[in-house]
Amino acid sequence: MSDIDLDFTIARLGECRVPSPMSGVRFTRDDERVLYHARLEDLKPWLDKRADPPAMEAAGPREKIFFEPPPLACGIVTCGGLCPGLNDVIRSIVLSLYHLYGVKKVYGFRYGYEGLVQRIGHVPLELTPDSVARINELGGTVLGSSRGPQDPADMVKTLEELKVGILFALGGDGTLRGAQKIAEEAVKRGLKISVIGIPKTIDNDVSFVQKTFGFETAVTEARRATYAANTEAEAARNGIGLVKLMGRDSGYIAAYSVLVDSQVNFCLVPEVPFTLERFLSELKQRLDSRGHAVIVAAEGAGQDLMAKTAERDASGNIKHGDIGIFLRDAIKDHFKKRGVEISLKYIDPSYTIRSVPANPHDSAFCLLLGQSAVHAGMSGRTNMVVGFWNHQFTHVPLSLAVSQRKKIDPAGALWSSVLASTGQPADMR
Ligand code: F6P
Repeated sequence: MSDIDLDFTIARLGECRVPSPMSGVRFTRDDERVLYHARLEDLKPWLDKRADPPAMEAAGPREKIFFEPPPLACGIVTCGGLCPGLNDVIRSIVLSLYHLYGVKKVYGFRYGYEGLVQRIGHVPLELTPDSVARINELGGTVLGSSRGPQDPADMVKTLEELKVGILFALGGDGTLRGAQKIAEEAVKRGLKISVIGIPKTIDNDVSFVQKTFGFETAVTEARRATYAANTEAEAARNGIGLVKLMGRDSGYIAAYSVLVDSQVNFCLVPEVPFTLERFLSELKQRLDSRGHAVIVAAEGAGQDLMAKTAERDASGNIKHGDIGIFLRDAIKDHFKKRGVEISLKYIDPSYTIRSVPANPHDSAFCLLLGQSAVHAGMSGRTNMVVGFWNHQFTHVPLSLAVSQRKKIDPAGALWSSVLASTGQPADMR
């Protein structure tokens, strides 16, 4: 999609006529915008034409809102894999609805979109400030989660019967597509239901969103694995520490783990293909020159090197081959054949990096995300996600957020810094 075609228009349920019950705050005007491009040279085409450059709506409380707080009921659902901070966002939404707007009815739908389908039988929780008071101290999600879509007609029927005016959906790509379908189904039936997505992905791969919650905590946890790998590698002759980290299609966790302490010598991500021969020959050179090596591989890296599988998970994602085990065996085999003794330690921290509670910085981020989501819903915005762009909270149409996955640009600044940090060749093909 070219920048010229970007349409950041946010759908609205109708005119905002109700004065906000909030006082003593800085209200955000509807015309406040956050620039999509942050660099002057990228803005040039618009500046030359004296046209408005692409920009996103700024998030924040509005002076006039769409919904009358009571008798409004709201719902929250968490879908997909776990992510640090899910409970922080749930808590923030409940506290903001209660304390900032006086909304007293908040349903917590259980086990993802399943909880919105009555015939499956999960009874929704009633969430109150008391029931969510300390859930931020826990990893996981108090609502439970699941993968996979449900029929939008069934889900909207539930929302209609419970008189839910705003649904907050926390999830990644598949969840946000589901949220889009719910919003469209509500419009089709003439219902005034706002659907607000909150991007949740440990892989940090949602487009038009600079950073997703929990990512920072996951990188912090991953550092324990890279630290151990480096310590083990340094302590042995021809020591190799190999770490596999999450990152199905986007290698951000792996890339940032490398930048944490510059002790990693090879970073393998899905975005940058490599051949086994070249990688192994570079690894040999590294051992010859320095006596040890640390490798970080994102789970989606090097998939073309392994036998393809047609299997998919409930979200429709292709199930990847295990690059960690593949590399472990290939490295051992390679050096054995050459009569070189190595000491390889393989570490797969897997779910441990995403099941922990959020760190304080992520918690603060989650609190602000939840507040922004509530302000957006109360103002009748719909079919959108709360984003974070150029260090500001924004509104992004769901259609844009799901239009493509955000990936590391192999020609961009992040990957260039990773290469500078590892010292690996830019091209290992
Ligand atoms: O989508 C986020 C993610 O953490 C991926 O990196 C990983 O492939 C996937 O979830 C694994 O989750 P699950 O085992 O729950 O499907």
